Amino acid sequence: MARKILVTSALPNANGPIHLGHMLEHIQTDIWVRFQRMRGHQTIYVCADDAHGTATMIRAEEEGVTPEQLIEQMRQAHLQDFTGFGISYDNYYTTHSEENRFYSEHIYNRLQEAGLIFSDDVEQLYDPDKELFLADRFVVGTCPRCGEPDQYGDNCEKCGATYNATELIKPRSVYSGAEPVLKRSEHYFFDLPKYTGFLQEWTRTDAVQPEVANKLSEWLDGGLRAWDISRDAPYFGFVIPGTTDKYFYVWMDAPIGYMASFKNLCDQTNNLSFDEFWAPDSEAEVHHFIGKDIVNFHALFWPAQLDAAGFRTPTKVHTHGFITVDGTKMSKSRGTFIMAADYLKFLSPEYLRYYYAAKLNGTVDDIDINLQDFVQRVNSDLVGKVVNIASRTAGFINKQFAGRLADRVHDEALWQEFAGRAEEIAGYYESNDTSKAVREITALADRANQYIAGHEPWNMVKDEARRDELQLVCSQAINMFRALAVYLKPILPLMAEKSETFLQVEPLMWADVQQPLLGHTITKFKPMLQRMENKVVDKLVEASKDTPGSTADQGPAPNQTDHISIDDFTKVELRVAKIVAADSVEGADKLLQLTLDVGDHQRQVFSGIKTAYDPQQLVGRLTVVVANLAPRKMRFGVSEGMVLAAGEGNEIFLLSPDDGARPGMLVT
Ligand code: 2FM
Ligand code: ZN
Repeated sequence: MARKILVTSALPNANGPIHLGHMLEHIQTDIWVRFQRMRGHQTIYVCADDAHGTATMIRAEEEGVTPEQLIEQMRQAHLQDFTGFGISYDNYYTTHSEENRFYSEHIYNRLQEAGLIFSDDVEQLYDPDKELFLADRFVVGTCPRCGEPDQYGDNCEKCGATYNATELIKPRSVYSGAEPVLKRSEHYFFDLPKYTGFLQEWTRTDAVQPEVANKLSEWLDGGLRAWDISRDAPYFGFVIPGTTDKYFYVWMDAPIGYMASFKNLCDQTNNLSFDEFWAPDSEAEVHHFIGKDIVNFHALFWPAQLDAAGFRTPTKVHTHGFITVDGTKMSKSRGTFIMAADYLKFLSPEYLRYYYAAKLNGTVDDIDINLQDFVQRVNSDLVGKVVNIASRTAGFINKQFAGRLADRVHDEALWQEFAGRAEEIAGYYESNDTSKAVREITALADRANQYIAGHEPWNMVKDEARRDELQLVCSQAINMFRALAVYLKPILPLMAEKSETFLQVEPLMWADVQQPLLGHTITKFKPMLQRMENKVVDKLVEASKDTPGSTADQGPAPNQTDHISIDDFTKVELRVAKIVAADSVEGADKLLQLTLDVGDHQRQVFSGIKTAYDPQQLVGRLTVVVANLAPRKMRFGVSEGMVLAAGEGNEIFLLSPDDGARPGMLVT
């Protein structure tokens, strides 16, 4: 039966650029959404910029624009980045909208009617220099629970504790660096403890992953506190009804932004009903995709807000982990904190979609990216395996049979191996375990390539008597390729589109895999995907390094003083050299005299590597020389350059290029 599904990704903050961390979530969501659509379910995907809060106000002030102008610019930029990655929202809105104001006020009023709002005086941190109350995220200090320094005022990234900013040890304002002072004001609270029983039950349904449920039950068992949902002026947001200078805390109206974006979409179309999705007895599904840092907002506060205000609760909150690069946090100084817009200048979005899919497994585990593995994986799986199936066989169908596929299946059992995997692979998509889906799909690609290699169509074509067989084998290969295009379509929409053109078929649906294409005419084959080049990835990393003028301009960059510029680096001329002779130097224990072939001439270099190498061992070996070092007069003669080696003492390791490098080659 067709399901009705509303899906959201967490709303990106309007005051910062989209980076590859955001992309993990939006790609994960988009894969799930595209999969559901291919299954024939009505799937609506909405998102928005999270516009409110002090940060937006401050940034607008710094840039000399109104907050409204700032958030609209950012929304356009964010949408452009996401669209560049093929994210298929039905609506990308903003939380600073009339719809959101309406639902925020509505929910607040309902909570109040239900006796779930109370007010209380709180002492809050106040930046005496900037003259504003400090939002939790804008106070940093030491975690009161585990002692980790430099933690934000709402929760600790190290131990996961949530607390009030006033509890931070040694707090400071991120705006002015001033030590905040305590100032008293009246705040409004949502009486969350009254919802403990409800949440204990709700979090034990399959609305959250089991590991998330465990985390939540720790919080629930520890006792919930009332949630402070108001902030004082000056603030950028919605004024709380009945007040003039109190605003909804950004986290109060942010998730309501999901509803508001959906409402805005309903008002633009005439086939969507808001109530059908949000009424308490709704049979539609609501799915939120989020990162594990914001699980408390989505799996505690939000379902409580919804239930208390008379709306349905989410069907499922899908939580993912963070991204690390080579096992550590993304880093601006290493060039691994990559902005989406920078990525798109260099590489196809499909590469990243595939790599993320290959890594995501439906748990909250962090995803580690390794850039070399990224290149290798994409080239070997997609270009080397999947696209290869079509590129090895389409030419025969086109040239020998005018593009016409055979009328029957050659190897029915093999075909069933492909078609018969549809439900298993669908199950992996449904549970966000795309790493398993990708593993199954690449195993099938291996099967297809074995089949082609076993039948050698390139030999069949030489034998007129085997014409029918040639058509059957290549048609089977094209059908296997088509099955893989179906299975990969949620991940690789562009490749799917190009495959549809090549196969001359309507947009592929999941069920299409059950019917092979027989007696059907395809068109000329054009590779759907190019190999990825290591050097392009290097350029992207270089462009992402935190240098003045780059887009990576937020946050601290460690070790900056150690950097040299790329211009400094290119001044150093490194060349491959072949050691043609190596001799001891009389009167010098550590030195070897090396004669190097650097392509067009030979030169002499003295090198302190004798403790680690027998001179004879070195003859014939390749190494790398700094070729433009000024000649140095030494006691034993002139040294014309320097060879590169790691280590010291007895542990010296001469650097060598791989076999095949030629003397004189420039090292870059
Ligand atoms: O963590 C964030 O970036 C928030 N802007 C996410 C909000 S998600 C939803 F609740 F709006
Ligand atoms: Zn902590």
